[in-house]
Amino acid sequence: MGVTIDKIKEFEEKRADLLTMGGERSVQKQHDRGKLTARERIDLLFDTNTFHEAQLFVEHRSTLFGLDQKEIKADGVVTGFGKVNGRTVFVASQDFTSSGGSLGEMHAKKIWKVMDMAMDARKPFVALNDSGGARIQEGVPSLEGYGGIFYRNTVGSGYIPQITVIMGPTAGGAVYSPALTDFVFMVEETSHMYITGPHVTKAAIGEQVTHEELGGAMAHAKKSGVCHVVAENDEGCLNKVRELLSYLPDSCHSPVPVMECTESPDGECPELDDIIPDRATRSYDMKKIIMAIADNNEMFESHELWAKSIIVAFIRVRGQTVGVVANNPKFTAGVLDYKASDKAARFIRFCDAFNIPILTFADVPGYMPGKEQEWAGIITHGAKILHAYAEATVPKITVVTRKDYGGSYIAMCSKSLGADYIMAWPTAEIAVLGAEGACNILYRREIAGADDPAAKRAELIGAYEKQFNSPYFAANLAIIDEVIAPRETRKRIVALLEAFKDKVETRPPKKKHNNMPL
Ligand code: HXC
Repeated sequence: MGVTIDKIKEFEEKRADLLTMGGERSVQKQHDRGKLTARERIDLLFDTNTFHEAQLFVEHRSTLFGLDQKEIKADGVVTGFGKVNGRTVFVASQDFTSSGGSLGEMHAKKIWKVMDMAMDARKPFVALNDSGGARIQEGVPSLEGYGGIFYRNTVGSGYIPQITVIMGPTAGGAVYSPALTDFVFMVEETSHMYITGPHVTKAAIGEQVTHEELGGAMAHAKKSGVCHVVAENDEGCLNKVRELLSYLPDSCHSPVPVMECTESPDGECPELDDIIPDRATRSYDMKKIIMAIADNNEMFESHELWAKSIIVAFIRVRGQTVGVVANNPKFTAGVLDYKASDKAARFIRFCDAFNIPILTFADVPGYMPGKEQEWAGIITHGAKILHAYAEATVPKITVVTRKDYGGSYIAMCSKSLGADYIMAWPTAEIAVLGAEGACNILYRREIAGADDPAAKRAELIGAYEKQFNSPYFAANLAIIDEVIAPRETRKRIVALLEAFKDKVETRPPKKKHNNMPL
C-alpha cells in the first residue's frame, strides 16, 4: 500500500512539474508580450474541465548540440481533446515557453498522434501554433516531422474540419500546415507568418520590411488572403474559433449541427423590399440581406477583409448551418475578380465536403476586366468558382437580387451549374451584358449614323432594357424558377432547405478525383 502511494505521489510530482512548461520566467515573458500560454489557451478553447491531455510524458531523444542536457517539458506541445460547446474537438497547442515551441521529432510525433486520433474519431482538429519552427539542433527529423503533419492535413482534408490558429511566429515551411487547413485565424500584432522573415528578405532581395508588414495578421487578412479571421487578442481569437466550430459538423460523415430556433418559418422581412436602390449604379450592402435571412441576424464571416466584392459566411436558417456566397455591390460593384473567385471557390468546396447547403445571392456586373486581372490569371481563377459550384452536390439555392450578367451570371450558381432552385427579385436584371454595353456593341454603326445619335442610343438601350432588365425573360424560359418579393425570401429559403434536406446527387463513378484548375 505504502509503495503504491509513493508511486502515485512521485507520478503527481512529475506531472505537476511537466505542467509548469518553460518555467516562471518564460511564462512571464510570454504574458508580457500579450500572449497566453499553450495551457491557458486550451482552457479558453474548451468547455470548463473537459480537456484530457495525451502524451504529456513524451521527451525528445536528441543528443545533438547540447540537447542531451536540455529538458523540454512535454517536448513543447500540449496535445489532447476536450469539448467545445459540448462537442469533442482534438487540439495541438505549441508551448512557446519551452524552447520556443520548436518542432523536433517527438514534438511532431505528438501532433501526428493527435491528428490520427481526430481522424479515427472523426472529430475536428485545431492547431494552436506558437513556434520558432524546426528545432534547429535536431536537424532533418524536424523536417520529416513537418512533412508528416502536411501529409495528415492533406489526408484529413474534406474528412474532418481543420482549423489553425496562429498565435506567435510561424516561419519557413511551417506555414504550409496552416495553408493546408480549412481556416486560418491570426491574432493582431502577436502572430506572424512568412516563408522568409525580414532578415532573409533583406539579405536576399534587399527589401526592408517589418515583421508586421510582411506577415502580420492584417497583411494576411487584407492582402494575401492566407488568414480567414483576425482577432485582437488570444482570448477573442479562441472565442471566434469556438463560434466557427458551432457551425461545423464533426466530419463529412456527421450531421450538420442544428441549433434550437425560435423564429417562425413564415417570418417575412419587410425591410428587404426597399433595400435595392432606385438607380442601378447605386450600391447597397449585401450583408444586410444576409443578416435579414439569418436566424437572430447572426453570421460568421470568413475572409471578411479580403476580396470584399464577395462575401462568404455561415449563417443558420431555422437552426441549420448554411454556407452563403454573395456578391457585395458595396465593393467594386460586386465584381468577380481573381481573388473573389478563389475566395468563393474554396468556401464552396468546404461546404460541399461537409454537406453544408449553399445559398447564393447574385448581384454581379461581370468578371473584372483589365491587364492586371488577365495577367494574374482571372481565366484560371475564375474557372475555380465554376468548377466548385458544378462539383458541389449539396442543396444549392440561388437568389438574384439585381444584376446578373454574362459569365458571372453562370458563375453565381446558375441553373446550368446545377442550382436546385433559383429565385429572382423583381429588381433582377439577367442578361449577357448591361444594356449600354450591349447596345454599344450591337448598334455602333446605327448610332453613329443616326440624325440624333444620343436619342437613337437611348431608344436602343430602352428596347434592350425592356427585354432583359427584368427577371421575366429568364422566368419565361424556366432558367429561373420563381420571381418573389424580397420580403418573402427567408420563408422561401426555409421551405427549400427543408424540401431538399435529403437531396442525393451522384456524379460519374470510378473517377479518382477532379482536376480542379488550381
Ligand atoms: C530551437 C529555438 C528555435 C528553433 C526558438 N528557439 N526557435 N530552439 N529551434 N527553431 C528557442 C531559443 O533558442 C530560446 O531558447 C527560446 O526558443 C526562445 O527563443 P528567443 O529567441 O529567446 O525568443 P524571441 O526573442 O521571442 O524570438 C523568437 C524567434 C526566434 C523570432 C522565433 O527564436 C527565432 O528567430 N528562432 C529561429 C527561427 C527559425 O529560423 N526557425 C527555423 C525556421 S526553418 P532558450 O533555451 O534560450 O529558452 C523551419 C523550416 C521548417 O522552420 C520547414 C518545414 C517544411
